[in-house]
Amino acid sequence: MTEIVLNTQTGTSRIHCGEGAFAKYARQLKGGKNFVVTDTNVFALYKDAIFSAFGDDVDIKILPAGERSKTYGNLISIIGEMARAGITRDCTVIAFGGGVVGDIAGLAACLYMRGLRLVQIPTTLLAQVDSSVGGKTAVDFGKVKNLIGAFYQPAEVIADPVFLKTLPAREIRCGLGEIIKYGALDGGIYQKLSAAENIFDLNFLGKITADCIRCKADVVEKDERETSGLRKTLNLGHTTGHAFELFYKRKSHGEFVLIGAYYELFIAKKKELVSDEYRDGLIKLINSVVKVPSYKNTVEAAKFAKLDKKNAADGKITLIVPASEGRCAEIKLGFEEYAAYLSDCAKSLEKKL
Ligand SMILES: NC(=O)c1ccc[n+]([C@@H]2O[C@H](COP(=O)([O-])OP(=O)(O)OC[C@H]3O[C@@H](n4cnc5c(N)ncnc54)[C@H](O)[C@@H]3O)[C@@H](O)[C@H]2O)c1
Ligand SMILES: [Zn+2]
Repeated sequence: MTEIVLNTQTGTSRIHCGEGAFAKYARQLKGGKNFVVTDTNVFALYKDAIFSAFGDDVDIKILPAGERSKTYGNLISIIGEMARAGITRDCTVIAFGGGVVGDIAGLAACLYMRGLRLVQIPTTLLAQVDSSVGGKTAVDFGKVKNLIGAFYQPAEVIADPVFLKTLPAREIRCGLGEIIKYGALDGGIYQKLSAAENIFDLNFLGKITADCIRCKADVVEKDERETSGLRKTLNLGHTTGHAFELFYKRKSHGEFVLIGAYYELFIAKKKELVSDEYRDGLIKLINSVVKVPSYKNTVEAAKFAKLDKKNAADGKITLIVPASEGRCAEIKLGFEEYAAYLSDCAKSLEKKL
């Protein structure tokens, strides 16, 4: 088991990761009064684990599974149920589920009586390596993702690979998208990914999770609120990936991050920012998780990149691209140039098919 401590100006998060973390740390919460938030899928699979860890009479809110539950309405209904259950300042909110549960329960914990102790128990690979760590909480509003949110550090995160056993393949690929992103930011993670026999192996994933969490915790410790620009690097692959996600939908978020990273590596090569060898190494990892499509409507899709929050007031598209092991670079491009690169990359992919 690995223990990682994340210290920020607003609080300290103790992160327990590895096999046995849930058995050891969740039971320590049994003595106090807890309020559990989960979703229908997770509850169906882990009802017994929840009741045996927190007691049969624990107060629990079960949201319908999926992103569509990350709403203001559900946030208020969680808070209402907490009030009805007599939750007070000394109680703990336990987010038991994927990133959707983590984000909405985290925000409820932040708002209720100006803040309750929050424990994240992430059950998806994406939530373990990414969303449960770093203190970002939010709900969507209208069509805007994460419009209402706050920074609120969990007191504890319990990331146990035991939960990965029931994850559908799509959710594993989704988490791997973020894991390979960490590989592009951190030389040690890149080496481990490149040397692994099978990156889908659950034992391997259970171990690399700790490296990814450490990488994220290091960044968040230095730039909790994304003010210095460092936390932006966690968005590698996301400018283009997110634009494709909004336009093409269907694939998982992590797969789009990898597709975005592939297109952005094409741009990095044209700009002579990345060596062929390193680029080939990253592409091999990307291809092991997702087949990168040769998209036809790149110009239309590229328009969504204009909405990216990394873009400055000058209207340029900002990309974080891999440069060499453990190092990335920032590129700013006018929209026409950016869209032309995406379409050239799509054409080069077409030739390969
Ligand atoms: N706060 C942050 O820093 C941050 C970072 C990245 C993403 N996010 C947010 O996270 C959300 C996505 O998270 P996600 O990918 O975990 O999605 P999710 O929470 O919707 O979970 C994906 C699916 O897996 C199911 N599931 C969860 N655990 C399972 C298990 N152990 N076995 C079987 N099925 C299981 C869920 O019911 C759901 O159907 C988005 O809303 C995104 O905005 C937040
Ligand atoms: Zn992401």
